[in-house]
Amino acid sequence: MNGLLTLRGMTTGQLESLLDLGQRYRRMIRAGSQLPQTLHGRTITTAFFEPSTRTRLSFEKAAAALGAVVMSFTPETSSTSKGETFRDTVLTLTAMGTDVLVLRHSLADAADLAARWSRVPVVNAGTGRREHPTQTLIDALTLREHFGGLHGLRMGIVGDVANSRVARSHLAALPTLGIELTLVGPPTLLPTANPWGVRISAELDDELGDLDVIYLLRIQKERGAGSGLPSEAAYARHYGMNEERLSMLKPNSVIMHPGPMNRGVELDDSAADGERSLVLQQVANGVPMRMAVLESAIGEES
Ligand code: NCD
Repeated sequence: MNGLLTLRGMTTGQLESLLDLGQRYRRMIRAGSQLPQTLHGRTITTAFFEPSTRTRLSFEKAAAALGAVVMSFTPETSSTSKGETFRDTVLTLTAMGTDVLVLRHSLADAADLAARWSRVPVVNAGTGRREHPTQTLIDALTLREHFGGLHGLRMGIVGDVANSRVARSHLAALPTLGIELTLVGPPTLLPTANPWGVRISAELDDELGDLDVIYLLRIQKERGAGSGLPSEAAYARHYGMNEERLSMLKPNSVIMHPGPMNRGVELDDSAADGERSLVLQQVANGVPMRMAVLESAIGEES
């Protein structure tokens, strides 16, 4: 069984049933209802080979909320620092009785490799520039909750699309859910090919009036966004969401960001903390959406 490695190839029905389960858990959490202990007796292991705040903590909270035992592997304080390989680490974690492995890694195919080696369901929590499926599901859940539906929404993904795994997961699934995507950013931070056939633009100000969702990305210098990059000040002048740009939006448009935000670069306080911002709803939806993903990963286990 594969857990959740990618959103590529998933049908509208498959995506919607995951979102439905996430929404059910979101409502139960809000209402303070007793949560079903569907993961009781199971062990969920998080192994994050790259830094994380929201993703790791929300996976761990989601697992605990459904009654699982949570093990948390941290490479910096583990035998990785003594030279243990990634493969041996994966085999060690599964030999200990891991039922689901939640993995973040800088290698694009790390989750696929871990699934092949370990034979336990692996949930991709962000791999290289390739995919970050649960972030996309969280964002779809947040938008569905906010707008009441997804079909026909226009989203602009703004900034460092070339280095973004979030953008790639969005491109893999959001059009299937009926969202129209436009990629916006300086040409050096946009993908060189467009296999998705989406609209691409270098001029944010020309797009703002047409978009329902402005989805901002961090400039991911650790993934190679350094060369050919405008200065942060120049980037903020051209692409930063600020008060002036907020005033160019349609009345109901919203601002989203997967975090971590760099205030003063991709957005300023008026955009991050203003009425249009869904940033904290995205964070809050991380827990119920990841509950749904973990439960489905186990449920499909053969
Ligand atoms: C993203 C990631 O790590 O891919 N963050 C997240 O998981 N919320 C985006 C980023 O690092 O900029």
